[in-house]
Parts: sequence; structure tokens; C-alpha cells
Amino acid sequence: MEKMPYRAELDGGIFQMGCPTEQVTTTDWRQALPVLTSNQVTLRELRISDAPSLFAMLTTEEVSRFISPPPSTVEGFERFIAWTQRQRAAGTYVCFAVTVEGSDAAIGIFQVRELEKGFETAEWGFAIGSPYWGTGVFAEGARLTMEFAFDVLGVHRLEARAAVRNGRGNAALLKVGAVPEAVLRQSFLRNGEYLDQTLYAIVEDDWRARDAQQWTRTVIRETVH
Ligand SMILES: CC(C)(COP(=O)(O)OP(=O)(O)OC[C@H]1O[C@@H](n2cnc3c(N)ncnc32)[C@H](O)[C@@H]1OP(=O)(O)O)[C@@H](O)C(=O)NCCC(=O)NCCS
Repeated sequence: MEKMPYRAELDGGIFQMGCPTEQVTTTDWRQALPVLTSNQVTLRELRISDAPSLFAMLTTEEVSRFISPPPSTVEGFERFIAWTQRQRAAGTYVCFAVTVEGSDAAIGIFQVRELEKGFETAEWGFAIGSPYWGTGVFAEGARLTMEFAFDVLGVHRLEARAAVRNGRGNAALLKVGAVPEAVLRQSFLRNGEYLDQTLYAIVEDDWRARDAQQWTRTVIRETVH
């Protein structure tokens, strides 16, 4: 990843970053994001009250070093969350909070933004608190996010950018079926240094083939009121 669209300076101050059990929502995601659930992970709309938890999880050096700088204060995260809700209402971007079984605390985020009007080509990005790395939370959250992107947003091509030096981020993308397509030389300015990024994409055909072969669909979607 990754340059997700939030920019503090544009916001007056702040991060800008096959199974019959399935129940399909008819909710308009622009009004409120649905709740997406798998075995140990739930994705839901961000709430302002998630700010302290996200601040604790996403501002550590190991989490933030290869991504757009996160807000540096809890108040900054509150403004970021308010911004995500405005962008969702405008229909250009969604950001899910990641929670794990037994807790409602937000421990990470998955974001999807349109690169073309109507989401046909979109970009996703994600960050999870390091206590949850290597636990399977990422893979489950990624599957839920991809399902939402392809089935609900109508994405045809889902891109991601990962700094070449971000070994963990690149491996995570490969694990969920993203295909490396190119190196974008010096495309990401971080801490005063231009980093090369790998451009990845998952196209809808890849997703459908993988979904049918490898993943059982156990998603239950509900509407957030
Ligand atoms: C990206 C992120 C969400 C992935 O979640 P995660 O729980 O770490 O991912 P996983 O453990 O499922 O997968 C990572 C894989 O990278 C491997 N890995 C770890 N360090 C690595 C390295 N330096 N080089 C290559 N592979 C590495 C792990 O072994 C694992 O593979 P395995 O499951 O086959 O053992 C998480 O690491 C994160 O939030 N990172 C900081 C934010 C970030 O970089 N986001 C943008 C990514 S483009």
C-alpha cells in the first residue's frame, strides 16, 4: 500500500490513509456499512470511539513504517474516522474496522477506494495491530473485504501497492491471490525517501476462480443501524 486518500491537510487538520449459510444484504452501503463476519473476524463500520484503540494499534513503528503516516493523536484518529464516514456517504470509499471474536475493540482497518468512478477499478489497503499478525486475522479480513468489493461494490480490478521493502505486506498480498504486475519506481515518499512499490492486482475472474476452489463462504451480513 499505499497511498490511501485521506489527507489531514485537506480536512482541516489530520491520517489520511459456497455455502448456503450466506445471507445477502440489500442495504445501501453508502448509508451504513454492513457487518461482515467469518470465523474469528468481524468487519464493521468505524465509530469515533474506536480512535484510542486504533491509535494504540496503528501508530507503532513496525505497523506504520511502510504506509501513509497515521494520525499522531487520538483526536487525529477521531477526525480520520469522521472523514471515512463522509467519504462512504459520498460513495467513493469504504473503511472497515477489524474486530476479533470476543471483543468489539478495533484492532485494524481495511480500506477500499475507487480509482475510477463507480469502483470498476479500485485500490485496497490494510493495517492490523502487530499483536494480531500471524494469527489468520488478516487472511479472514482480506477475504471479507474482497467479497464485499467484488460482490457489493462491483469492483472488476482491485489494485494494491506495497513498498518493495515491506516483506510482510508483499507476502500477505501474495497469500490472498494478488498478482504482482509491475514495480513503480520511487512512487512512495516516506520519511523523506522515495520508495519503490510493487503494483498488485486481483481481477474479478481471479477472485471467482479462487473463491470457488479455496474458500467456503460462511459470511453472514447484517445491517448496522
Ligand atoms: C500487512 C498485514 C496486514 C498482514 O497481516 P499479517 O498477519 O502480518 O499477515 P500474515 O501473517 O497472514 O502473512 C504474512 C506472511 O508474511 C511472511 N513474512 C513475515 N515477514 C516477512 C518478510 N520479511 N519477508 C517475507 N515474508 C515475510 C509471514 O511468514 C507470513 O507468511 P506465512 O503465513 O506463509 O507464514 C500486517 O503485517 C500489517 O498490518 N502490516 C503493517 C501495515 C502494512 O504494511 N500494510 C500494507 C501492506 S501492503
